[in-house]
Amino acid sequence: MIEQRISGPEASLFALLDGDSAILMATAQDHKRAYDNDEGPNTGGMGAISPAPRLDKALEEQVMQEVVGPVVRGMAAEGTPYRGVLYVGLMLTEDGPQVIEFNCRFGDPEAQVILPRLRTDLVSAMLATTNASLHHFDMRWDPRAAVTVVMASKGYPGSYEKGSIIRAIDAAETVPDCNVFHAGTALADNGNLIAVGGRVLAVTALGDDAESARRNAYAGVAKIDWQGGFYRSDIAKT
Ligand code: GLY
Repeated sequence: MIEQRISGPEASLFALLDGDSAILMATAQDHKRAYDNDEGPNTGGMGAISPAPRLDKALEEQVMQEVVGPVVRGMAAEGTPYRGVLYVGLMLTEDGPQVIEFNCRFGDPEAQVILPRLRTDLVSAMLATTNASLHHFDMRWDPRAAVTVVMASKGYPGSYEKGSIIRAIDAAETVPDCNVFHAGTALADNGNLIAVGGRVLAVTALGDDAESARRNAYAGVAKIDWQGGFYRSDIAKT
């Protein structure tokens, strides 16, 4: 098989589809490599920012018109109308945005920067999606930026040890607009919070712009006491 090689930065656009129509949710940009400067092995994602800095309003509109619209109409025409989240993975090439993947789910860690910006009740949005009433659904968003920094077990995405103790999550959440999402934690019998996965925490913060969201997220990370973890220091850095 011969495939076209394309290059450029990646970004993702999220839409809700109700079988008949689609509405834009938000955009995000993931950081896939394990280490700073996009070095090291590929991971599920070491951090993300929303909105995606490189996906401006004009590009969002273009992707909705040229990608999401045809998906809604094409799937309905084939007798398989799609209702749910559409994750459009894009490469922003010199010839415009190109689709590299579709997923029928929120991304991880993209969800951790998109959902904190949502100002409309998520359940109402999901109901409008299943009831085919998205065309008059008003989805509101916090205009601020969100950045999440993933804290992973040392060794991830290779083999890693489980059971290291994590402390001071509460301290991280004293940073304004900072929340810590748990992905790979458990409570040990003695009450300690321990790491039991590869990607363990996602520390998300909002800020008036990308730089202040980034600063707040790293302020949260700095308060967490976890000897067994590591994180990238350049998430959302311009
Ligand atoms: N972060 C990439 C994904 O969820 O597919």
